Amino acid sequence: RQDQLSELLRQSPIIPVITIERVEDAVPLAEALVAGGLRLLEITLRTPVAREAAAAIVANVPEAIVGIGTVVSERDLVLASELGAQFALSPGATPDLLDAAAASNLPFMPGIATASELMAALARGFDVVKFFPAVPAGGIATIAALAGPFPQARFCPTGGIGEANASEWLAQPNVIAVGGSWLTPATDVRKGDWPAITDRARRTLAHTSAFHK
Ligand code: 3PG
Repeated sequence: RQDQLSELLRQSPIIPVITIERVEDAVPLAEALVAGGLRLLEITLRTPVAREAAAAIVANVPEAIVGIGTVVSERDLVLASELGAQFALSPGATPDLLDAAAASNLPFMPGIATASELMAALARGFDVVKFFPAVPAGGIATIAALAGPFPQARFCPTGGIGEANASEWLAQPNVIAVGGSWLTPATDVRKGDWPAITDRARRTLAHTSAFHK
């Protein structure tokens, strides 16, 4: 299950973190990202329309590989499976959530910001984790320091990553992918400027391609 997740991330190491406000934006937004070469999408459970939006993308954008984000409880994990997601992500790693995820068949990426949180995730077999919030939690220096005691861990940093620093993160040997909301700016989404979103996706892929694992 975790191998499956690593493979997905290796193939698609740039993950748009998507918070949908209007359900009608979901499909054209996902199509714009896929057209720009970004297939792995994190749809956060943060808005009233998030479920409906995720279901619409799963049903209508077959090239998209949908992950459900902001999973904070076992209930969210079940919901992610019901929505047909291919994986789930969390900003954190509570013992209850880790236990539920370990018992589920859905590939799962817990979030960690400290050594102890990482140890709890590793103890349950989760060696691919989100590093959140990446920049406020110490940035690249923290990831580099965690590589010492935890050489087996692979990180997907999110929180404060953008076009300007994505390559720098991906250049770290233990960073397998990066994620963030910069790929779907609210101003573009509100205007329905899908070509701008496709262009940004393409540009980011081109800039970072030398560092894909
Ligand atoms: C999140 O879950 O909010 C992501 O980490 C996005 O963070 P960002 O908005 O700084 O990219």
